[in-house]
Amino acid sequence: MDYRGNHPAAQGQRPGRISIKHSLRLGILISGRGSNFEAISNAINRGTVDAEIAVVISNRAAAPGIEIARERGIPVRVIPSAGMDRETYDKLLIEELNTHEVELVCLAGFMWLLSAGFVKAFPGRVMNIHPSLLPSFPGLDAQRQALEHGVKITGCTVHFVDEFLDSGPIVLQSAVPVLDTDSVESLSVRILKQEHDIYPRAIQLVSEGRITVEGRRVKIKE
Ligand code: GRF
Repeated sequence: MDYRGNHPAAQGQRPGRISIKHSLRLGILISGRGSNFEAISNAINRGTVDAEIAVVISNRAAAPGIEIARERGIPVRVIPSAGMDRETYDKLLIEELNTHEVELVCLAGFMWLLSAGFVKAFPGRVMNIHPSLLPSFPGLDAQRQALEHGVKITGCTVHFVDEFLDSGPIVLQSAVPVLDTDSVESLSVRILKQEHDIYPRAIQLVSEGRITVEGRRVKIKE
């Protein structure tokens, strides 16, 4: 619970109107490195994102991001998905996220296609980051796809998640030029830097209640 500056105790006043506001509770789903999770956590620690990471869930026991969560004292659960059917696995996820009272689910390199049932359980409350300017290059190896296609500009996208792959309404995008000298690795590094900027910003927009979704269009209040 966060009492902010207007809690009477903080102001040395007698209790009158007490405003109790809590930070947006995030559930972050990872499968690997976890650098986007780390960027979100850093932004929270810096105070640029008003949210709290209620739980990090990995579907792979070997995900390096798990250690980052442990070091930071963030609750972390490993729920292996290997060999599980989609609906059964997603029920486990929903249960864990609800246990931690998660309000916004953030997919951050989570290698698992969520079921329609999962998306229904968190309507308009699931976000993903993808390393291309969607709708170009959905799916795996987006940076390689961009290079092989020969585009001059690619980038990254934060979008809401629906039951299809990389297809929901777009919240924020950042463009990254493709250089003649680029390899998949060098391009990925520059895109990742942008991912670490726009994902926390998108979460902060949700936290501030500035987002409305009309069909496919996500509108941001000034
Ligand atoms: C990122 O490039 C993200 O856009 C994609 O998977 C990668 C995850 O990286 N969905 P990390 O685990 O956040 O470092």
